[in-house]
Amino acid sequence: MRITFIGGGNMADALIGGLLRKDFPLQDIRVVEISAEARRKLVDKYGVTSVDKPKDAVRANDVVVFAVKPQHLREAAAKSGIADNANLVISIAAGVRLANLSKWLKGHTRLVRAMPNTPAMIGEGVAGLFPFSKAVTREDRERTETILGAVGATVWITDESQMDAVTAISGSGPAYVFYFIEAVEDAARELGLPVQIAHQLVLNTFTGAARLASSSPDPVAVLRERVTSKGGTTERALASMAKDEVKEAIIRAIRAANERGKELGEELGKE
Ligand SMILES: NC(=O)c1ccc[n+]([C@@H]2O[C@H](COP(=O)([O-])OP(=O)(O)OC[C@H]3O[C@@H](n4cnc5c(N)ncnc54)[C@H](OP(=O)(O)O)[C@@H]3O)[C@@H](O)[C@H]2O)c1
Repeated sequence: MRITFIGGGNMADALIGGLLRKDFPLQDIRVVEISAEARRKLVDKYGVTSVDKPKDAVRANDVVVFAVKPQHLREAAAKSGIADNANLVISIAAGVRLANLSKWLKGHTRLVRAMPNTPAMIGEGVAGLFPFSKAVTREDRERTETILGAVGATVWITDESQMDAVTAISGSGPAYVFYFIEAVEDAARELGLPVQIAHQLVLNTFTGAARLASSSPDPVAVLRERVTSKGGTTERALASMAKDEVKEAIIRAIRAANERGKELGEELGKE
């Protein structure tokens, strides 16, 4: 498999780093990037071939990964010269529906939409994947899993409208976790703990709890109950959160993200 990235920013950088760490051959990766500075950065960091025009990079049978900002995808697709299902095309652009990308690629249907997240930068991401049509073969799915799987876990979904939910859960999700970490750190400082100690306690608590939840056969509710002794400190804290409807507020926030995903899909597809 040979891969051409169109767009060589943060996400392409994370994917290239992940692929190389998994011993993917450097000579089989190319990057089309319009910014000379971004091209230089990638060449310095990885020694990867980077050019500014797709015609100098995209070869027959290459897997083409569009990794430009959503608002640049239409133009990047139009300039790519890709059509006729000759290449497997993977788009990681948030919000852009594949029916629109297919139109911008002159009817190309061999398309996969992927929604990764930023822990991909350290190989701990998770990506939702959706195949546009039957033109995406079993081998194409495996190729997609190799590329996105280089930086974390992958999950196939069966209905593209669920991509908005994937975006609201795992795409935006790291920000919710950071927000919660910030709140707990603020509380730790208010209780008089030094900044560095607060940071270490909170981060280890988050990673430890997340690892326990993923390695335990018990549901998270059971793990939560185990920490919550009758009349104890955890019980008092959880009662306070229940009174403030924290859970409902989180669900409302994620619903809002889902709605915004739908709006963006509409906006980005407008002629
Ligand atoms: N960050 C996340 O959490 C996350 C998660 C999931 C998906 N995504 C998606 O991943 C995509 C890439 O995000 P990113 O953070 O990597 O963006 P980024 O850092 O801005 O990278 C995109 C790069 O592509 C270049 N570019 C723009 N138009 C181009 C064209 N026609 N041909 C070649 N290169 C072109 C840009 O150059 P200029 O800067 O000069 O425009 C920029 O260097 C976005 O669609 C985003 O929605 C991001």
